[in-house]
Amino acid sequence: MKPSQIAIIDFGSQYTHLITRRIRQLGVLAKIFPPLVSTQELKGVRGIILSGGPNSVYDQTAVRYNPQLFKLEVPILGLCYGHQLVAQHLGGKVQKGRVKEYGFANLEKIVDGRILAGVPKQSRIWMSHGDSVVQLPPGFINCAKTSDCNVAAMACASKNIYGLQFHPEVAHTKAGQLVLSNFVFKICHCQKDWSLEKYFSQMVKKVKAVVGKRNVFLLVSGGVDSTVCFALLEKILGKNRVFGLHIDSGSMRLNESAQVKTALAQAGFGNLHVYDASAKFLAALKGVVDPEKKREIIGRTFLQIKDEVMKKNGLKPKDWVLGQGTIYPDTIETGGTKHADKIKTHHNRVKEILKLMRLGALVEPLSELYKDEVRQVAKKLGLPASLINRHPFPGPGLFIRVLCSSGQEIKKSKNQKINLQRIVGQKLKSIILPLKSVGVQGDNRTYRQPVLLSGSLDWNKLHDFSIRITNEVHEINRVVYLVAPAKVKLSNLKVKKAYLTKDRLDLLRRVDALVNEEIKKAKIYNDIWQFPVVLAPLGLKGGQTIILRPVESQEAMTVNFYQMNKKVLDKIAKKILQIPGIDLVLYDVTNKPPATIEWE
Ligand code: XMP
Repeated sequence: MKPSQIAIIDFGSQYTHLITRRIRQLGVLAKIFPPLVSTQELKGVRGIILSGGPNSVYDQTAVRYNPQLFKLEVPILGLCYGHQLVAQHLGGKVQKGRVKEYGFANLEKIVDGRILAGVPKQSRIWMSHGDSVVQLPPGFINCAKTSDCNVAAMACASKNIYGLQFHPEVAHTKAGQLVLSNFVFKICHCQKDWSLEKYFSQMVKKVKAVVGKRNVFLLVSGGVDSTVCFALLEKILGKNRVFGLHIDSGSMRLNESAQVKTALAQAGFGNLHVYDASAKFLAALKGVVDPEKKREIIGRTFLQIKDEVMKKNGLKPKDWVLGQGTIYPDTIETGGTKHADKIKTHHNRVKEILKLMRLGALVEPLSELYKDEVRQVAKKLGLPASLINRHPFPGPGLFIRVLCSSGQEIKKSKNQKINLQRIVGQKLKSIILPLKSVGVQGDNRTYRQPVLLSGSLDWNKLHDFSIRITNEVHEINRVVYLVAPAKVKLSNLKVKKAYLTKDRLDLLRRVDALVNEEIKKAKIYNDIWQFPVVLAPLGLKGGQTIILRPVESQEAMTVNFYQMNKKVLDKIAKKILQIPGIDLVLYDVTNKPPATIEWE
């Protein structure tokens, strides 16, 4: 019997795959389709979910969709952009909201409307939108609101059509999974008939079909994804058909490449080769400031080194396909789905890789999985816990954590006259920093300046201010807090000209190692999902700044900043300031959205 299936129509949300994933976690198959999908292709689906997206439904840029979707007589659930689309399509009204809501909000339920059955009267939800539904379509009832959004949930039981302005699919929405299960089981009447095991049997078939009689040349960073990928490919194809290459790009953590070699040898991988390409990477990245340029150069250089190593080992390209441990978030954030805004070019999604993909010369067995699913697979494969539980580390490594600058002032926009003090009051000092970092706001990439706050430490206050600043001051996508030294004349902070150099990488490596050692000692390593440590050319006395960015997450798509114990933080900051060349220690107090985990 065919399993029950939910169709997700992708309007370009960063969360589209997350919806898929959540439905699969409920034991039901979910598949993604484009907005112009024919009704024929949707034959037999039990329900349709319209995803969020970066556009405005009333704009010229609105995504074209098949209006027949609304005539299929299966239940429909619109999320964020999808919610607004439902409203507009059926005769309601959507407008730009008074304020933009990014991050946590409090949902006040008015009625169940079936979709909110079992949800408490007040509950924490995750929002990421600029537009709002201001008038319900005929036949709909308003089921919930927040302080900044009047129609946060709506329902039309007779048509079986529902809309939610918030994102039930992100882990931060407390009752999110309950809401989705209401839709899937109570409204669409699906059966639980999908599992990770079923996915695997399909994946093995796919790998065998792509590889055929060829072999796999696998790029191995040593993190959990590429290691699991190595183990799976060896299992599927046999040990002698997989060549593992670890490229030391010069952006690895302290002693990382040597440790990867030992750990993988101990875990039983024989065919791993290590190649030192640090000088080549540094030469290619000389004088580059723009984060996207950096990412493209890094991706390309990895492939040039791969070609060089193949040549050296006498491996003929026609006999090999390239293997990568790419996982879902990597493909999404590079604009992997048709309508998604490109947030970042992941090193394993540069155009040369996309070409290999088109030519059928690329295998990525994990490309549909999330980090925690990869960890489940790693456990099943019997890989050591020390490897499975390591914090994720990005392919472009410390290169994207060493911020660069040409030393030129950032032009002040008129909005920089904005009085931040209006939001943070008189107890905290604030300043807009002369730096930029990447963010994701309303499903779009942003590259904007952060605000620095200084004063006494109160995580809850910082959390609230961070949300208010990024919601109300559109030009800001990140907020940081001054940890040490305690008192600094903020107007004395200057950015200096600085590029990627071995010295700066070595300095960051040293601080990064220190931070990792301290959080292990303080026994908080496992409470933190990932801990980027960033070096910025911002200083007082000609030195630089360290920014700490520990986050809590489940799958990197949504994140909240980690609130560290003050004693531990003070100890770490004190040790960092003892390192020559470091003037300041800052702490990133932004969630994702509106800021991404990495600064570049
Ligand atoms: P952001 O910064 O986009 O990061 O919130 C999400 C997750 O992806 C990691 N990351 C990368 N991983 N290649 C990778 O393999 C990349 O180019 C890359 N860029 C970011 C990041 O560390 C975080 O875990």
